[in-house]
Amino acid sequence: MHQDIERILVTEDEIVEICDRLGKQLTIDYQGKKPVFLGLLKGCVPFMSDIVRKVELPIEIVFMSVSSYHGGIASSGDVKIKMDLDIPISDRDIVIVEDIVDTANTIVTIMDLLKHRGAKSVKMVTLLDKPEGRLRPYQPDYVGKVIPKEFVVGYGLDYDEFYRNLPYVGVLKPEVYTKKHE
Ligand code: IMP
Repeated sequence: MHQDIERILVTEDEIVEICDRLGKQLTIDYQGKKPVFLGLLKGCVPFMSDIVRKVELPIEIVFMSVSSYHGGIASSGDVKIKMDLDIPISDRDIVIVEDIVDTANTIVTIMDLLKHRGAKSVKMVTLLDKPEGRLRPYQPDYVGKVIPKEFVVGYGLDYDEFYRNLPYVGVLKPEVYTKKHE
């Protein structure tokens, strides 16, 4: 795995600092509330696990599974719900937990859906933001780190379902994904 990484963009130490900082901010901002932390599978898993332990509030954790990549390195723009929520969310404060915002197709689609279902508020926390990739205007509420428009893997982020278990976020060597399509 490690030999397929060109360079590290977010180190393990930085990830710890990000979770600490964002967890503290969410604890302040949601004081007196019982928010629902909604993770978008599967990329959110390591980040969800680390950030919720830094949030000192009574929270619920739920998951949805959506897909927009279908195995490549560019979003297809077609967001599919593969697994829906198992609790009603009307009148609840929702915090969506994401690994990365790129085109913003996924987050805008899910936000619209949750508002349509009657959520009281919908905000999002993302580990990474790639603002240069936007196809729709969107500014995440809580951002761990802004990164350039490069394809990254690790700490939940995959290429063809692999590399999610890397403990850091790195740029994949281009030959790894060009080789596959030769
Ligand atoms: P968006 O809909 O284009 O904003 O993309 C959101 C989803 O695309 C994320 O939750 C990731 O699953 C995936 N994604 C976007 N950029 C990357 C990347 O650089 N590496 C791996 N997955 C990515």
